Amino acid sequence: MLKLASRLGRRGMSSNNNNNTHSVGKRIATLSICGGALGGLYYYSQWEKEQTKKLEAQSDNKKERARRHFSKLENWDTGRDDFSLVNCRDVGGKRITNASFKGKWHLLYFGFTHCPDICPSELEKTTDVLTMLDETDNYSGIVPVFITIDPSRDTPEKIVEYLKDYHERYMALSGSEEEIIQAAKGFRVYFTKGPVDEASGDYILDHTLINYLISPDGKLCDYYATTKYKPSQLAELITKRVDDWNLLHGETE
Ligand code: NI
Repeated sequence: MLKLASRLGRRGMSSNNNNNTHSVGKRIATLSICGGALGGLYYYSQWEKEQTKKLEAQSDNKKERARRHFSKLENWDTGRDDFSLVNCRDVGGKRITNASFKGKWHLLYFGFTHCPDICPSELEKTTDVLTMLDETDNYSGIVPVFITIDPSRDTPEKIVEYLKDYHERYMALSGSEEEIIQAAKGFRVYFTKGPVDEASGDYILDHTLINYLISPDGKLCDYYATTKYKPSQLAELITKRVDDWNLLHGETE
């Protein structure tokens, strides 16, 4: 840069018959400043390139992490068995299968309406989480799904009535005992019936307390032992996973 400035300066000097050193000096000064600016511009563009590289590397890392997470889930082979269940709000209508979950995010939970405290608090928590997420632009519209593990007592009408206390988008699913066992197996959900109370005929079911996040391509995206988390923590975990999924599927929202 300096070489160029002095060469131009010399040329300016030789072409100037009056040999006006003052104006040559001025020109050299101007060229030096321009040279400085050009140098600055050069360094700035180098810096910008480095920043872009860094950001690209960061996004590659993020993508890599997301990819690792999802491939781990695929290896576990959870939530992939197909199932066929009854939509309690549309008994006799189209049955609900894995394919029915395509196009929307779902949060799936297995429980029973006679559960004394855990299921109600889980459903309440899910309602809080989804209400929180509904207020955001990018994470709203997740559909909560309740699948009964107690079909002999949980009739479709009863489940629909029960869910009135919770999020309005709750999907209610039931089926024969075999169909429910098949669905539960696919998600590695376990449940066992406790002893029946002789006087009341009442009983409790011990069951897995997990919420399963299903992505719009109908695949298991994550799962949460929700009793461990506050609604705000759960909302954060879900948004992170939705971001991961969008990163790999090229969507911004
Ligand atoms: Ni329960």
